[in-house]
Parts: sequence; structure tokens; C-alpha cells
Amino acid sequence: LASIEVDISAIKEGQAIKTIFRKQPLFVRHLTGAEIAAADKVDPSTLRDPQTLEQRTVDGKKQWLITMGVCTHLGCVPLGAGEGEIRGEFGGYFCPCHGSSYDTAARIRKGPAPKNLEVPKYAFKSDTVVQVG
Ligand code: FES
Repeated sequence: LASIEVDISAIKEGQAIKTIFRKQPLFVRHLTGAEIAAADKVDPSTLRDPQTLEQRTVDGKKQWLITMGVCTHLGCVPLGAGEGEIRGEFGGYFCPCHGSSYDTAARIRKGPAPKNLEVPKYAFKSDTVVQVG
């Protein structure tokens, strides 16, 4: 299956872009310090799908959150990457289909979705280019 390269140089702190990977939406978010802190202060054992932000990002690049843009409930595309930045009550992404809310690490926090947004396989080719897949 094909991999893609994403240029992340223009994504400012606090912004996310939506692109396409293997015919599905892919979100690339540049987390702010406050968003990282918000993710880190959650005890993962309290989560439906327990994971830390570290486990969902690359060593030394915790500010780059790269996930599929596919709700783990029934596959709608959550809002929050563009769309007027509608992110729901946990500040990450919000799925309008049945109201799943994801936090700043794109972990499921409320609503029917069973899992966090999936993190695809990826690697940094440089400080500004990420290869996904
Ligand atoms: Fe996202 Fe149902 S598909 S909440």
C-alpha cells in the first residue's frame, strides 16, 4: 500500500490540517503547550481506551498528533481540523454523527465511540516532512 509525504511546515501551533491517506481522511495537528498539558494531566487508567499522549506520538515530537480522521464509532469524519474549529468539550475533535468527543490527544472521552482515533504508522523524514504509511 502506498505511503504519502505530508509537508507540515505551514501548520501553526493550535492548527490542524486534513489530508487523505489511503482514501481516508488523515488529521495532522500541531498541539499547543496548553493542549499537551491538558492531555498529560489525564490519568490514562480513567480512559475508555487507555493511552498516553507519548504512546500516540513520536519521541521528541509530542506536539505533532497524527491520526486518522475516522470516528471509531461508525466512521464519520469528526470536526476539528478546519470546519471553524469545532472541537467539542474536550478540545480535540467532535463527531457530529452521534456526539463522540475526543480530547487533545484524540482519545475518546464521551459519546459512543469505543476507541481513540487511530494513529497510523508514520515517521519524520525531516523537521518538516512526515512520511505516513
Ligand atoms: Fe462518530 Fe457515531 S460515527 S459518533
